[in-house]
Amino acid sequence: MKSLILGRASRGRIAIYPGSFDPVTNGHLDLIERGSRMFDRLIVSILRNENKQPLFSVEERMEMLAEVVEHFPNVEVDSFEGLLVDYAHEKGAGVLVRGIRAVSDYEYELQMALMNRRLRPEIETVFLMAGEAFSFLSSRLVKEVISLGGNIHGFVPEPIEERLKKRIL
Ligand code: PNS
Repeated sequence: MKSLILGRASRGRIAIYPGSFDPVTNGHLDLIERGSRMFDRLIVSILRNENKQPLFSVEERMEMLAEVVEHFPNVEVDSFEGLLVDYAHEKGAGVLVRGIRAVSDYEYELQMALMNRRLRPEIETVFLMAGEAFSFLSSRLVKEVISLGGNIHGFVPEPIEERLKKRIL
């Protein structure tokens, strides 16, 4: 009967993994896999940002993400605009997941986590370390490498590699 009293917890632990995902890399996928093992539901959500000039539209990025997370039964793909913590609250999520690759990520991530905590103290940010094989990987670098003729095999899931080739080459 305890679970009835717990209210939100009885519906399971919901976490949001927010980002730009332009496009999803194997580093993101590694984090999604880790997050899917830690939470009952993991919502991977793309920020709708009018000020950024993405390579892929939000709809294309959602489609690509949906394709590569298909085999995780507790992972969903969504998009959001406005404040991340308000979106998390609407979704009933108590946790924000962010990846840390190197010390250089830490300052920006700490600042965001503390601001988010100030805005909604009940929502926790959890930092996950991607596998070391992905510690150098970013969507920005993958796009740069392929546009300069480099080989991006192994950096992104295969269907994403195909999409990148079609879009850039
Ligand atoms: O993949 P990114 O671009 O590093 O993701 C950044 C993201 C989407 C997590 C961040 O820009 C964000 O949360 N934006 C939503 C607006 C917001 O809540 N701003 C205040 C957070 S400190």
